[in-house]
Amino acid sequence: MSTIFDLEQKYFLQTYKRLSIDVVKGEGCYLYDRGGIQYLDFFGGLAVNALGYGHAHIVEAIRQQTNQYIHLSNFFVQEPQIRLAELLINASGYHKLFLTNSGTEAVEGAIKLARKWGVKRQKKNLFGLSNSFHGRTMGALSLTERAKYREGYEPFLPNTGHIRFNDVSDLQSKVDDKTLGVVIEVIQGEGGVNVASREFCEELSSLQKKYGLLIIADEIQCGIGRTGTFFGFQHTGLRPDIVVVAKALGGGLPLGAVLATQEVSSAFTFGVHGTTFGGNPVACAAGTMVLQEVVEGGLMQRAGKIGDRLISAFRGLQKELTGAVTDVRGFGCMVGVQLSKDGQPVVDELQRRGILINCTNANVLRFLPPYIVSDEQCDRVIAELTSVLKP
Ligand SMILES: Cc1ncc(COP(=O)(O)O)c(C=O)c1O
Repeated sequence: MSTIFDLEQKYFLQTYKRLSIDVVKGEGCYLYDRGGIQYLDFFGGLAVNALGYGHAHIVEAIRQQTNQYIHLSNFFVQEPQIRLAELLINASGYHKLFLTNSGTEAVEGAIKLARKWGVKRQKKNLFGLSNSFHGRTMGALSLTERAKYREGYEPFLPNTGHIRFNDVSDLQSKVDDKTLGVVIEVIQGEGGVNVASREFCEELSSLQKKYGLLIIADEIQCGIGRTGTFFGFQHTGLRPDIVVVAKALGGGLPLGAVLATQEVSSAFTFGVHGTTFGGNPVACAAGTMVLQEVVEGGLMQRAGKIGDRLISAFRGLQKELTGAVTDVRGFGCMVGVQLSKDGQPVVDELQRRGILINCTNANVLRFLPPYIVSDEQCDRVIAELTSVLKP
């Protein structure tokens, strides 16, 4: 008899290297497979499941909204969208938003908003940063730098290019009065949990003032409270003109948003942009619960504390195992531990011990726990990692 793994290979375009776990249930911070094995998930649905699995408020919000209506179309003003928007605008301090289905669609929206804004100002050139990841659609891919995502998809959008991450002189040499904007993940996720330096952010802020260029923050992975502040860029002093969020926002349902300052928002007028499914009311009902828990329920502060605990333990490990652990980076529930060798065997061994994390950029162990993990669960992960890494 065929297993689900055989059937996946039979039916799907082979774009994903899937885990060999047949999940039947998620609860809190745990996943359970068909054989009843429990996994502590420190990967959290790739930064989506900030409130873990099966959070009672999210489940109830979805149930209630499903009973009212599942879809209306954006011809209608929809109360679940309004409730979400009010919380998101208040928490973010931005002026207006546009709701999307995914991260990459939010990036496309941001590119289009920036381009409209740039028309009257004769500004066209958009830059991404080295090691960045912004999504798989052609606009987002044009700003993404890593070759493994781009190869074979040329040609990319015209007037796009890349600046070396944290390289102030490269930034100064590429940006000028024709620059429309710079797209930045202040804490790069796929790129290896790399944090933008103070000098780089200061220079970017001063070029924003000098040339009137737009800073577009991709907060799809590091936003929505993950790093202990609502946005990752709040650790840096940057004041972006456009911000994109997704992942954690929808509580597991597809939801993203483009947020803009007052000045930039007016570049979008009736009919210039749209989406059929974006802002789905069930996703918005779930997202409203996420924002309530994260912002009003104190989970954002808790995410910061989780990071302090993990980072201080991992730094201790770095001291103890000089040579094996070469760096520890990040904030809150977004932490990277860089190894001197390939990280995948460590990820595999942790999986055998019932703990899920992933490895990015070959040698960076990435921890993206839900903001609801307990101190004991953190300590278990720290202890297991220590035992796996110790010679
Ligand atoms: C920083 C960042 N931007 C954009 C994306 C793309 O989001 P999505 O996969 O929802 O299109 C991701 C996804 O991993 C991401 O981490």
